[in-house]
Amino acid sequence: MSNNRNILVTGALGQIGSELVPALRRRYGAGRVISSDIRMPHGEAGSARPGAAPARAFELVDCTQPHQLHEVVRRHDIAAIYHLAALLSAVAEEKPQIAWSLNMGGLYNLLEVARQYGCQVFFPSSIGAFGPSTPRDQTPQETIQRPTTMYGVTKVAGELLCDYYATRFEVDTRGLRLPGLISHSAPPGGGTTDYAVEIFRQALRYRHYTCFLGPDTRLDMMYMPDAVRAMIELMEAGGAGLVHRNAYNITAMSITPAELAAAIAERLPGFRIDYDIDPVRQAIADSWPRALDDSAARAEWGWAPAYDLGAMCDDMLARLAPAVKPARAS
Ligand SMILES: NC(=O)c1ccc[n+]([C@@H]2O[C@H](COP(=O)([O-])OP(=O)(O)OC[C@H]3O[C@@H](n4cnc5c(N)ncnc54)[C@H](O)[C@@H]3O)[C@@H](O)[C@H]2O)c1
Repeated sequence: MSNNRNILVTGALGQIGSELVPALRRRYGAGRVISSDIRMPHGEAGSARPGAAPARAFELVDCTQPHQLHEVVRRHDIAAIYHLAALLSAVAEEKPQIAWSLNMGGLYNLLEVARQYGCQVFFPSSIGAFGPSTPRDQTPQETIQRPTTMYGVTKVAGELLCDYYATRFEVDTRGLRLPGLISHSAPPGGGTTDYAVEIFRQALRYRHYTCFLGPDTRLDMMYMPDAVRAMIELMEAGGAGLVHRNAYNITAMSITPAELAAAIAERLPGFRIDYDIDPVRQAIADSWPRALDDSAARAEWGWAPAYDLGAMCDDMLARLAPAVKPARAS
């Protein structure tokens, strides 16, 4: 960001925002990053934590209310918006009407504000933007997108809407098709890949995890520090080289629950996994790619992940171990 205008993050108290907001504050200065959400912060991404940014750095914003977005963008002189507010895949299947209203209505409101105030926009698409007719291995950057979930419908439509605002109104929109994200700071928000986060806490506490996806369900995953760096690097990249600007495939690892469990068991002897398959989330996972081809992101803005399965497991367990103590046998 070359000027001194500010950055807004919507849906900032969720799994991604909890790590993106501190990273943006470290990079651009605490006073320049406004975090916002429909609920009040308890600490992490907001302002209550000792040493955190001052209270004005958090705003209550409901993205389905356009006037609230206008007001915060105008008052804080916002130049760039990371738009994270959305319902995730499993929750969106439970509440498809609300998912449409937030995921599409919220994005539309945000793009309109960005058009009027000249803001750059980051939009997180997902592997959920693909469907069962998409090639599932080495899924190309440009391919069939016929998702069968409300989440996927809103992600494809979101990619297209961002393309439209870029070409029609010259809004500087940019986006990633994120895989399942693994992190330790905030709980996941109701996605199909949440097992890959839950397994670590359960492993440390009980040496046991019951997984809601089958053992051989292969999906793309990424450790949150890589995802946060990808978002910031994409937003800082020169715009001229961004051919696929709103929907870059990115990935770091393509893993199954059985493979993740084996990697954890190597580090926590005695860890066991069993399976109690949730048919709704299994059906969603079975409609998604197994492994994305992210060569366009590598070629167009230099994307490269830093964490593979082993490095991610080492870091997750090291960071969670002090807080998650083994349960005592009763
Ligand atoms: N976490 C992942 O694995 C993953 C993977 C791919 C894409 N994504 C996308 O990244 C984005 C953020 O994901 P996340 O995991 O941080 O989600 P999350 O569910 O953890 O957080 C979403 C946040 O949005 C807030 N919110 C809900 N309704 C709102 C409204 N009307 N106005 C403002 N805020 C509202 C919630 O309070 C919550 O804090 C979403 O668009 C999601 O689809 C996430």
